[in-house]
Amino acid sequence: MVQGELSALAPAKVNLSLRITGKRADGYHLLDSVTVFTDFGDRITVAPSDQRTLTVEGPFAAGIPTDEGNLVLKAANALCRETGQDLGARITLTKSLPAAGGIGGGSSDAAVTMHMLNCLWGLGLSAQDLARIGVALGADMPVCLHGRPCRMQGIGEDLTDLPPLPPIGILLANPGEACETPAVFKARTGPFSPGFPDFAPGQSAQDLAEALADHPNDLTPAAQSVCPAIGPLLATLDTLPGRLIARMSGSGATCFALFETVAAAQEAQRSINQPGWWVQAGGLLR
Ligand code: C5P
Repeated sequence: MVQGELSALAPAKVNLSLRITGKRADGYHLLDSVTVFTDFGDRITVAPSDQRTLTVEGPFAAGIPTDEGNLVLKAANALCRETGQDLGARITLTKSLPAAGGIGGGSSDAAVTMHMLNCLWGLGLSAQDLARIGVALGADMPVCLHGRPCRMQGIGEDLTDLPPLPPIGILLANPGEACETPAVFKARTGPFSPGFPDFAPGQSAQDLAEALADHPNDLTPAAQSVCPAIGPLLATLDTLPGRLIARMSGSGATCFALFETVAAAQEAQRSINQPGWWVQAGGLLR
């Protein structure tokens, strides 16, 4: 049991590659994805309280639910159900990432909340317990609970750690339009991809970009049909000086470009001046 307030980053999740390898009888798709996390994102703060409450603030707070419609409260409630206790916490979510953007914002918020409430409430739940409870809340929950670079398979529950990533800079860009995940999976057509053979990130940013080159994001055409703004966004990222690769993350609409260094990604950020777009440069958690 912790007495004071706890606060942590809820990073953006980025699918550097996303192959769709099949579909289960229940409609969920089988994935093979190289998944990483940025060193920037939302922030979750939890503090002791008699009540269980959620306050949302920050640049992307508008329209984010503060009731059970928010995955953060769903996760808190799931922990209470699991342990048979009605526990209180004052949870604050500072929303700095665009919602419904293919970068796991809601899942990352909920995953970090689960880790912090596990500490605050002294529940002693293991990583396996949290993953089991989390996957019932969403397919992105296990990887966000894991929070480290990994290869993600199954519908998102089968995780294998990757060797440490080389130093690299990343630029995320979102066109300012929500892109709902179920609509994108529904719009996907065509054959399934083979998974990729063992993935090695290599020693340099260049190695990593080369290793990813033949493993794109299979959801890109479907996401572009749902959200046409992705096309011009990708075209802009693809022409940035110094970019190693540019592609979409998850089910979109957020796209990313990789650079040799964080400084190069920051320079690229300064060169983009498109009203309505959200653009953020930084590094990856390695
Ligand atoms: O599990 P989650 O709520 O994040 O998924 C949202 C929707 O995305 C699912 O209802 C499903 O339509 C689709 N999805 C899928 N296969 C996955 C993950 C998500 O078809 N592996």
